[in-house]
Amino acid sequence: MPTGSADHRDRGASIGIYNRGTLRVYDVGVLGVTNTLIWRCPTRTLVDHYRSHAGPAHLDIGPGTGYFLERIDSPWITMVDLNHASLAAAEARIGSGKQVERIQQSFFAPLGDERQFDSIGLNFLLHCIPGHAKWDRLAELRRHLRPGGTVFGSTVLPSPATANPAARLLNRTYNRVGVFGNAEDTMADLDAALAGMAGVRTRQVGQVALFSARRPE
Ligand SMILES: C[S@@+](CC[C@H](N)C(=O)[O-])C[C@H]1O[C@@H](n2cnc3c(N)ncnc32)[C@H](O)[C@@H]1O
Repeated sequence: MPTGSADHRDRGASIGIYNRGTLRVYDVGVLGVTNTLIWRCPTRTLVDHYRSHAGPAHLDIGPGTGYFLERIDSPWITMVDLNHASLAAAEARIGSGKQVERIQQSFFAPLGDERQFDSIGLNFLLHCIPGHAKWDRLAELRRHLRPGGTVFGSTVLPSPATANPAARLLNRTYNRVGVFGNAEDTMADLDAALAGMAGVRTRQVGQVALFSARRPE
């Protein structure tokens, strides 16, 4: 698969990686064990981040099992994911009483020009995507925020100086097998993608970079 091709960029949404079987163990394996012991960023920190930034009309890109969507109060949730198993699992998780829309497409595929949201969440999505084009796409997403709306999320950002041996090994292995595509990612890329927005905040907790930024009013 040629580097930079659409298929290559979207390899992290493969059904071989996220399917009913792997999604069943994702919450315990990744959110329960790996985040705390290996990435050193407890899932509680990510839940707090979600709860403090999700707005009433929320767009979630790469919802996975829906773990975070189950924990926010947004009454209108739109989900974008190329993987139908993730969309189905997340929708089942969100529960009744909320208006949910599923869009099965790539992170890179355009959304209708008219689509605007109070918040856009991208949690543990960017580290799945190889190459530099993801930063340009992240920068572009601000046009889908209402004035004052927030884009936020987190991504595993390797920090070799602070990584424990297990984190170094796991990140290397995930990049080698195509589950991750973050080997070249830097905090400077993330900062550049959010440049020009208001209230930009980026911080590193263990091996995870958390970010948030508002579209100026
Ligand atoms: C690691 S999971 C994160 C799930 C969830 N956000 C969480 O933090 O628990 C990555 C999700 O992003 C989706 N994904 C990965 N690459 C994608 C792409 N290029 N376009 C759309 N979805 C993608 C996967 O299908 C999966 O649902």
